[in-house]
Amino acid sequence: MALNAVLGAQWGDEGKGKIVDYLSAKSDYVIRFNGGNNAGHTIINNSGKFALHLVPSGIFQPKTKVIIGNGVIVDPEVLVKEIELLENCGIKLKNKLFISPRCHLIMPYHKALDSLYEQAKGKNKTGTTGRGIGPTYSDKVSYNGIRIIDLMNCKSFSEKLKVQLLVKNKILKALGTKELKQKDIERVFFAFREKIKPFVFESFPLIQNAVNNNKNILFEGAQGIMLDNDWGTYPFVTGSTVMTGGINAGAGIPINKIKNVTGVSKAYLTRVGGGPFPTELSDKTGEKLRTIGGEFGATTGRPRRCGWLDIELLKFACSISGLTELAITKLDVLDNFPEIKICTGYSLNGKKVNYYDGDSDFLSNVKPIYKTFKGWTKPTKGIKKYAGLPKEAKLYLKEIERLIGTPIKYVSTGPRRHEMIII
Ligand code: GDP
Ligand code: IMO
Ligand code: MG
Repeated sequence: MALNAVLGAQWGDEGKGKIVDYLSAKSDYVIRFNGGNNAGHTIINNSGKFALHLVPSGIFQPKTKVIIGNGVIVDPEVLVKEIELLENCGIKLKNKLFISPRCHLIMPYHKALDSLYEQAKGKNKTGTTGRGIGPTYSDKVSYNGIRIIDLMNCKSFSEKLKVQLLVKNKILKALGTKELKQKDIERVFFAFREKIKPFVFESFPLIQNAVNNNKNILFEGAQGIMLDNDWGTYPFVTGSTVMTGGINAGAGIPINKIKNVTGVSKAYLTRVGGGPFPTELSDKTGEKLRTIGGEFGATTGRPRRCGWLDIELLKFACSISGLTELAITKLDVLDNFPEIKICTGYSLNGKKVNYYDGDSDFLSNVKPIYKTFKGWTKPTKGIKKYAGLPKEAKLYLKEIERLIGTPIKYVSTGPRRHEMIII
């Protein structure tokens, strides 16, 4: 039996989609357990180029079944579009895609509230994806959520919606936003219901059976550990548990069954939205990383902030989530940099400090301590053998491994499925 997880080890967009698409060739099941359509997982394979927001990235492997686990929050409009997109590409989803009825629904008022909170925060805004993620998770924990299971039963949906609109419309009105009409929401959601219904299936027995029958299961994390609601750079985080612990709650699998947890990290670092970023490069080098790396959000198209690899954060991500191995992506993006830096730790007022010593304001003030490497200035794009890498690139990877104390198992050298080195 092999239960493996792939998690983002930075601030998201590490290349999880590419790694999951690659690894899922051997998976019987690929399961998403957290987040919603704030995720954008890019996959480039024989079927084309896709940015998946909800459907797990294993969907393109002919024998792999995929599950949207209970911890995922679902905007039905986005889900229906994704289902149609995949069906139009000739992918048969019947008996291949399963959606947990326990998933909470992202409602129109969640998106309105997301935007209202961001406006109220002004220059201190989180920089959310605007998909209603935070408000949906807060309704979930305060027992005000509406779930897919409710949508499957029109009466239950209407009753719950009525209660929510009673409160939500008062808030929207007070803040000068248009109130929402029950009938309008019902009309649209009941249409989504028809499209989603064939895929709604309680995933608990499915997953338990798979485990008992020694099937290969791969858990696909969304976002990155540094965006985790508890352990990320709060309040510049997301609404879900991104760490390994999220799998227990969000997919219904005991954590001790999981054998490998692969942390995905770029060979440098990016972040979208607000929040501290000690190694951010607000200069020509940052611009060069953004241009060569194509660092624009797969979900919102926003330019990503770019900087050097931060070992302090990566070490923390490894410890907090028990990462057993690393996948380093986008090594090829550094091909044309004569000099490359790694942040090995932080100092504040001349004293060495750690990530966990303070909050986001604290992290905005720390000074990165850098180690400088000579670049390899040779193409690594598409290289599939470790031996074929320039010696400076091997040195760079070896040093990352040594500083973190976690083995690098995969090195990605391009966005396509097979541009990959297995060590
Ligand atoms: P995810 O959210 O973690 O799945 O990552 P995204 O899809 O949001 O962003 C990763 C971007 O990097 C996508 O455009 C990928 O196609 C691209 N990518 C992934 N791995 C590599 C790589 O090794 N090299 C290059 N050049 N691009 C890559
Ligand atoms: P994937 O799965 C990168 C960021 C947002 C914002 C913060 C909160 O593609 O790696 P939210 O909409 O979740 O309330 O926004 O989290 N964020 C991501 N950044 N990749 C993601 O997903 C992200 N999902 C959320 O930019 O800073
Ligand atoms: Mg992404």
